[in-house]
Amino acid sequence: MAKLKILIQGNPILKKKAKAVKKVTKDHQKLIDDMVETMIVAPGVGLAAPQVGVSERIIVVLVEGQLYCVVNPKIIKKSGKIACYEGCLSVPLVEAPVERFKSICIKGMDKFGKPITINAQDLLSVVFQHEIDHLDGILFVERVKDPSLIRLKDQKEEIII
Ligand code: NI
Repeated sequence: MAKLKILIQGNPILKKKAKAVKKVTKDHQKLIDDMVETMIVAPGVGLAAPQVGVSERIIVVLVEGQLYCVVNPKIIKKSGKIACYEGCLSVPLVEAPVERFKSICIKGMDKFGKPITINAQDLLSVVFQHEIDHLDGILFVERVKDPSLIRLKDQKEEIII
């Protein structure tokens, strides 16, 4: 495994809509392993392929000790509302509250190309939505309703995604 360079806001790759993966290859599996290492070292609780310069629909998430690697994640059900302070490895220095769905159901593929379905609530749901936004070229700061709530990072409270 290798640690990858994380792109920072301003890089055009972060604004692109990432392409769906047609077939999960060995190269994708290596990318996923490298993304997991990069996320853990950062440290963060989620990482999307465009953040490491690959415009393909792949995310990794690590919440409450559980690791999720999802290829072509798609939200098929959503309900409720939740808002918490989010940060992002690609948007250094700031954090802000973002309104998200409290519960979602995601379909996609695992790192071996096998179909998977994940039900996510609360923090896990927030992290998945943040990562899927990255695949659509959306950074969390663009979803902040009240810009006056954008503040400098407070490591104690924020979730770095
Ligand atoms: Ni992020």
